[in-house]
Amino acid sequence: TKAVGVGLLGFGTVGSGVVEIIQRHQNELQHKVGCPVEVKKILVRDVNKQRKVEVNRSILTEVASDVIYDPEVDIIVEVMGGIEDTKLQLIEALNQKKHVVTANKDLMALHGAELLKVAAENQCDLFYEASVAGGIPILKGLSDGLSADRITKMMGIVNGTTNYILTKMTQEGSSYEEVLSQAQELGFAESDPTADVEGLDAARKMAILATLGFSVKVQLDDVSVRGISSVSDADLHYSHQLGYTMKLIGLAQRDEDRIEVSVQPTLLPHHHPLSSVHNEYNAVYVYGEAVGETMFYGPGAGSLPTATAAMSDLVQVIRNMRLGVNGKTVQEPLHERVLKEDKE
Ligand code: NDP
Ligand code: HSE
Repeated sequence: TKAVGVGLLGFGTVGSGVVEIIQRHQNELQHKVGCPVEVKKILVRDVNKQRKVEVNRSILTEVASDVIYDPEVDIIVEVMGGIEDTKLQLIEALNQKKHVVTANKDLMALHGAELLKVAAENQCDLFYEASVAGGIPILKGLSDGLSADRITKMMGIVNGTTNYILTKMTQEGSSYEEVLSQAQELGFAESDPTADVEGLDAARKMAILATLGFSVKVQLDDVSVRGISSVSDADLHYSHQLGYTMKLIGLAQRDEDRIEVSVQPTLLPHHHPLSSVHNEYNAVYVYGEAVGETMFYGPGAGSLPTATAAMSDLVQVIRNMRLGVNGKTVQEPLHERVLKEDKE
């Protein structure tokens, strides 16, 4: 059977995880999708840089159109980050009838609706599981597993870097600067970690979760945000002694005609389930009227966990290709729905 061709935009922490899984799990993948999966081209900034995962150097390029217009590339996996230029490149790719998988929450939180529209117009898939909570299949959980329920509340830890920092500062007494640089070395932090520590990364993820969970368009500007940069060693020390654990908590809740989404450092009693989520791990509590309480838990950042999420999208795209249903199984079909108060 003819191989499906994959083009990567980015070959850093997440991109190298994607290539590693394609290499290591090739037999598994072929068994699941019914054809070989081959990486045909990879966009990087610098083709001469030392790479963590070995590939034939001839497939590396510094020119985006080499990937987007490569006739052997059927699916683009965007794992480089960036917003405006990346958006234009993905629109170009979709207009070339390439399916897209992305880990980019910055992009999806701001331009997700527009990109999904372009994908639908081109009968292409655009999936973004890796954009929220790393390896936890939370988007598929909401759009698939809980699709028939009415979700009213989501609350959790959706940023690995800040959870890693708060854990190490509390448990080991490490300094903020020291653990932030560890989180960067481990590949958890964004290229500019301000987005992590000021809560913006978590806010973007909460906007995506609220949009998907509540089937209403939630804009990033609607999310009230406070990060952890002003949390001191003393705050952590004394709150811990008083029986509380500090966590950066994302909260999205709704009633009949109001939605509230926020991100802020929050004191939780030690026995609260979210207090025992440590290091880069994430957890999201989801309440649905029919299902009741559910909890999604797992690694929220890092190379292979995040790549697993992107790969699950890739597998779905390939299955859709084989069934001829691409563009018909989007994760967010209701982007156009608006809140009652917006309509008035
Ligand atoms: P890295 O910085 O590790 O890798 C980025 C890659 O993209 C590098 O290979 C870089 O090339 C390439 N790149 C970046 N900009 C350009 C450009 N303008 N032109 C060409 N190549 C470019 O990032 P991550 O892998 O950590 O993150 C990638 C995406 O995944 C981001 O959107 C991030 O938010 C998201 N994400 C990351 C997670 C994580 O745990 N790290 C988890 C979930 C999502 P070069 O190697 O030559 O520098
Ligand atoms: N910087 C992000 C985090 C990566 O720490 O959670 C995963 O989205």
